[in-house]
Amino acid sequence: MHLVETRNLTHIYRGNLPALDGVNFIAERKSRIAVIGPNGAGKSTLFKHFNGILHPTSGEVLVRGEPITKENVREVRKLVGIVFQNPDDQIFSPTVEQDVAFGPTNLGLDSTPRASPTLLRSSTGCPRNTA
Ligand SMILES: Nc1ncnc2c1ncn2[C@@H]1O[C@H](COP(=O)(O)OP(=O)(O)OP(=O)(O)O)[C@@H](O)[C@H]1O
Ligand SMILES: [Mg+2]
Repeated sequence: MHLVETRNLTHIYRGNLPALDGVNFIAERKSRIAVIGPNGAGKSTLFKHFNGILHPTSGEVLVRGEPITKENVREVRKLVGIVFQNPDDQIFSPTVEQDVAFGPTNLGLDSTPRASPTLLRSSTGCPRNTA
């Protein structure tokens, strides 16, 4: 079972051409993956499917082998976190590290960032103020 998987994922924003067209993506446990592409390639659109911010126009998104549903989306969001593309847009903390730690801390977990929850960054820039 893969941590995150998309199968033939297509997303069409209303009235537009497909932003994603049949994307097959797999994130294995303990892997570090860079998704690279030009502006407008669909990176952020892809990531927003990983925790139910966006829904597929067609195709599937599986987290730990299960489709994201209304019933499990809160659990999925404990596992899959997304930080803002532009660090200046972060709501809670001045550094990416502290922003990543905010969710786990509120869940009563150790706030020291480690490999989990899965960190997905859609920015190609460097985190600000991080070691
Ligand atoms: N909310 C939206 N409504 C309509 N079209 C959108 C929306 N968000 C993104 N798009 C379009 O979908 C396509 C993919 O955009 P997306 O933001 O996913 O690309 P990206 O790879 O993250 O780009 P960047 O490197 O600039 O962050 C682009 O053509 C973009 O204009
Ligand atoms: Mg983006």
